[in-house]
Amino acid sequence: MAALHEDNVIVMDFGAQYSQLIARRVRESGVHSEIVPHWASLRDIMARRPRGIILSGGPSSVYQEGAPTCNPGLFELGVPVLGICYGLQLMCHILGGRVVRGDHREYGRALLHVDETEPLFTSWASGGPRQVWMSHGDLVLDLPPGFRVMAHTGECAIAAAGDPSRGLYGLQFHPEVSHTDQGRSILEGFLFGVCQASPTWTMSSFIESSVEEIRRKVQGPVISALSGGVDSSVSTVLVHRAVGENLTSIFVDHGLLRKGESSQVIQTFRERLGMRLVHVDARERFLRRLEGVTDPEAKRKIIGEQFIRVFEEEARKTGGARYLVQGTLYPDVIESGTATAALIKSHHNVGGLPEDMELELVEPLRDLFKDEVRALGTELGLPAEIVWRQPFPGPGLAVRIIGSVTPESLELVRAADAIVQEEITGAGLGKTTWQFFAVLTGLKSVGVMGDDRTYANTVAVRAVTSEDAMTADWARLPLDLLGRISSRIVGEVPGVNRVVYDITSKPPATIEWE
Ligand code: XMP
Repeated sequence: MAALHEDNVIVMDFGAQYSQLIARRVRESGVHSEIVPHWASLRDIMARRPRGIILSGGPSSVYQEGAPTCNPGLFELGVPVLGICYGLQLMCHILGGRVVRGDHREYGRALLHVDETEPLFTSWASGGPRQVWMSHGDLVLDLPPGFRVMAHTGECAIAAAGDPSRGLYGLQFHPEVSHTDQGRSILEGFLFGVCQASPTWTMSSFIESSVEEIRRKVQGPVISALSGGVDSSVSTVLVHRAVGENLTSIFVDHGLLRKGESSQVIQTFRERLGMRLVHVDARERFLRRLEGVTDPEAKRKIIGEQFIRVFEEEARKTGGARYLVQGTLYPDVIESGTATAALIKSHHNVGGLPEDMELELVEPLRDLFKDEVRALGTELGLPAEIVWRQPFPGPGLAVRIIGSVTPESLELVRAADAIVQEEITGAGLGKTTWQFFAVLTGLKSVGVMGDDRTYANTVAVRAVTSEDAMTADWARLPLDLLGRISSRIVGEVPGVNRVVYDITSKPPATIEWE
């Protein structure tokens, strides 16, 4: 929620995987932004006192039965609206224009010619056409009354349009993606030129409004699920700022952690940050429940459920806490499937939660991306080694062991992982590589060691670069480094005779293997 003195721009979500990118771009320009589903009522929208509303893209066709729509009254609120892709098509469809299926899907780069520079394309005033990113099958054929064309491309006669008298604008292309030249200045044309918003949103104003909101929502004792990763550490410190001594952090060792992790977390939070930390050794409990389970979603669900059961037990011990703080981020929310977007995988702290949970969730980072959380952590004064830790999934090594999780497979992947960590960090590539780890693939193959035949495990090394984990590319690690990692794993980890390097990006793969 925006602090009361701040301007707020709402993004209405029509099911695009990347809607939150729009909100994030708005925040990057210093304006608070939040997402609402497309069925939000006018009352709910006006209660948020928006300076402007952005309609997101989405995979549907406006003329299909059951396509997501919005209340037509939205365009009569007197609040400026910017429709992006599906958002433009929907606005035109509702206001009396005509949207049709294009001759072919237009996907990728296109050259935009600007016909009217005010108010969206002011930075394009001089110079020729610029590159924009298109991704659509439908297009607007006729504009509604009052609208005029503001830009076009070779394929698309109406690439931008608007009715300045009503403050309604639309873009067929995506200004939020980095492939669009000057996308930021187009959005800022809407934010500052049309909505007259003020760029007052900062991390410190976010802290202030979050602390206010947490205090309003939460009374009495609270527990926090602390894994020692960036997200849970930042959310814990933020909630600590709001509720102080009412917070107890719970660190659950589920036995699926990396080498040395458990003692490191305890040391940092108890000794360095002086926080109240309960360490629960639940290794046996998790392993027992995971015995023989091979399906990735089943593993995630079991771990999610067990986490919650442990927290419920701990909550009873800490004077009946009713609230559980989790470091859920926006990519976790979107990939676990939202009301409008499809399920990719159940992140343990979102989709893997049991339905009969007794604790109410407090998730202050739910709208943010990882790099925003790192900036927030720095602003909150967290040590750099926590702020810059690489992401580690809640279900831990269980989703890096294909097949069933056993003490032996855990030991193997943990030892291989420690070598990957040492080598990549030692080569000075730790900060520029988003994540790097070992996966036990569940594949066995034939090898020869000394004079003997072996039939042993294959370990995959995964290293990716990314900005926000929504997309990722495989890291171009130096070949010598890969060679060293391979020889060390085969030489030092018993039971491994082959190492492969994963060269798939996301999409089509995901970062984790399960
Ligand atoms: P994927 O594998 O979906 O992962 O590309 C995206 C990012 O999320 C992390 N990840 C998780 N984080 N709980 C978490 O807190 C989870 O269940 C989970 N699964 C994946 C993953 O490490 C990557 O950074």
